[in-house]
Amino acid sequence: MDGNGRWAKKRFLPRTAGHRAGVGAVRKTVERCLAKGIKALTLFAFSSENWRRPPQEVSLLMELFVASLERETAKLHENGVRLRVIGDLSALAPLLRERIAAAEALTRTNNRLNLIIAANYGGRWDIVRAARRLAELVERGELSAAVIDATLFQSHLALADVPEPDLFIRTGGEQRISNFLLWQLAYTELYFTPVLWPDFDEQSLDQALEDYAGRQRRFGYTGEQVESLLLG
Ligand code: IPE
Ligand code: MG
Repeated sequence: MDGNGRWAKKRFLPRTAGHRAGVGAVRKTVERCLAKGIKALTLFAFSSENWRRPPQEVSLLMELFVASLERETAKLHENGVRLRVIGDLSALAPLLRERIAAAEALTRTNNRLNLIIAANYGGRWDIVRAARRLAELVERGELSAAVIDATLFQSHLALADVPEPDLFIRTGGEQRISNFLLWQLAYTELYFTPVLWPDFDEQSLDQALEDYAGRQRRFGYTGEQVESLLLG
């Protein structure tokens, strides 16, 4: 979700106004995913590198996170949304962690939409943590290094129980992954749009989905193989 600062600057507003406006885009996107029957949505809200921003901006982002959880959790629950937060939560304020835990507990058995918020998340952090867990098991003699394969490795990552993303959307015109779901994006279709995040709405999402629908996903096969597999 990129472009909040530029959205605000264009309007001669402080960057924080852009972040506030960005919450509206989150709401629209979640609603559209529900309407479209999309089963999983992962939002990159705050990266492990975003701590480098000015302290007032970091604290406003954290406040918005707390306020949004307080305001939206009940409605999400009513709509069958399961909410989860991935990332190193140990660095977050106790109040925020409390709100996260409450929202996760309330919505834990919902299955209409998996809504995942990445906060203080980094793809490298995720991979390193999985490697460390496996190393610990080996060190304790509970696992033989020879059995470590991609499937076992995957099961120690943050989104072990969620299918790999079909589509990645980055707003704001930048064409980078910026340490998002590095492992999980291996075969994901990438979509970049100049739309600034606060302007991202139902139509923007539909446009991305339409673009996605026109692509042929080959997973290493040839185009001809995929055609004949699809035709059965
Ligand atoms: C993304 O918008 C929001 C977060 C990282 C939380 P930016 O704040 O990066 O907006 P620009 O890139 O300055 O426009
Ligand atoms: Mg940015």
